[in-house]
Amino acid sequence: MKTGKYNIIHQNILTWYAEHGRVTLPWRNTNSAYEIYLSEIMLQQTQVKIVLERFYFQFLEKFPTFKEVATAPVDDVLKAWEGLGYYTRARNLHKTAIDTEGNLPNTAEELEKLSGIGKSTAHAVACFAFDEALPILDANVKRILYRFFAVESCNDKKLWELAYALYDKNNAYIYNQTMMDIGSAICTHKNPLCNTCPFSSLCQGKENPLSYPEKKKKKKKPIRKRTLVIYYKEDKYALNQNSERLLSGLWGFKQEEDFEMITNATSLGDFKQHYTHFTLEASVVLLKDKEQKSYFSIEEIHDLALSGADRKALALLESYCQ
Ligand code: ADE
Repeated sequence: MKTGKYNIIHQNILTWYAEHGRVTLPWRNTNSAYEIYLSEIMLQQTQVKIVLERFYFQFLEKFPTFKEVATAPVDDVLKAWEGLGYYTRARNLHKTAIDTEGNLPNTAEELEKLSGIGKSTAHAVACFAFDEALPILDANVKRILYRFFAVESCNDKKLWELAYALYDKNNAYIYNQTMMDIGSAICTHKNPLCNTCPFSSLCQGKENPLSYPEKKKKKKKPIRKRTLVIYYKEDKYALNQNSERLLSGLWGFKQEEDFEMITNATSLGDFKQHYTHFTLEASVVLLKDKEQKSYFSIEEIHDLALSGADRKALALLESYCQ
C-alpha cells in the first residue's frame, strides 16, 4: 500500500482515466516515438479536434516515417503543415529529422537538446514513448496546478516544483494523459467542473477556482494595415518566398506598407488575419507588372505552401478570375 501525500489523488486519477480518459486518441495507441512527437508538436498550439480532423493523419500519410521527413525538402514539410499555423514548428520538425537522421533519442535529456523541443514536450515524448517517469507542464497543467495549490501567480521554476511535487511517479503515463484530459474538459478556463474532478478532495482552489491564476489585463493587439499586391503578367501571378521569421519558407504575395491606389490596379477585396501579436488588415489589389522575380499559374500556386493570409488573398483572386 502506497502512503504518499497525494496517494488518494493518484488513485482517483487511475479510476477517472479508466472511465473517462480519451484512450482512443491515435497518439495514445502507438509506440512510435515519431508519431507521439508529431502529435505533441501539433498540439502545442492547436486544438485536438483540428489536429485530428485535418492534420495528423494527413501528415503521416505523406510522411509515414521520420526518415521520410529527414529526406524531404523543407517546402514539402511546410506544405503538409499549411493551415496549422506557427510554421516554425514545421521547420524545427524538419531540422530535427535531419539532425537525428530520423531517429529520435529516447531520453528527455537528449530530446530537449533538439530544435523546437522544450522541457515539457521533451518530458511528454519521453514519458509517452519511452516510459520515462517525468511530469509535464503545458498551459493546461499550469492552470490545474495554480488552482490545486491556490497560487495566484508564480514563475515557471516554481510551477515545475509544484508539478514534480504532485505527479504520480509510478503511473506517470496515465497521470500526464489525465492532466491533458482534465485541463481540456474539467479544469477549464471559464466553467470548471470541480464536482467531477479527481483532484477535488485536496484541491485548495476549488471554492473559488476562477481566482487562480490571477487574471492579467489583456493588451490590445496592434493592427497592421497592408496592401497585398498581386502582380501579374499574362495569366501568371508573382509570389516570393518569405524570409521573415514568422512565415519563413512560406510563399506569399507582395505586401506593401504605403501602397497608393492607382487607376490601373484592380481592387479584389479586404480581409483580416489574426496572428498572436497583431492583426493584419489587408486590402488585395491586382496589378500588371513584369518586373517581379517569380510568377506562377493558379495551379502552380496550389502546390506551394501559403500562409493563411495569402490563402485568403488567393481565394479573392480566384473568385475574381471566375
Ligand atoms: N495535448 C498535448 N498532448 C496531448 C495528448 N497527449 N493528448 C491530448 N491532448 C494533448
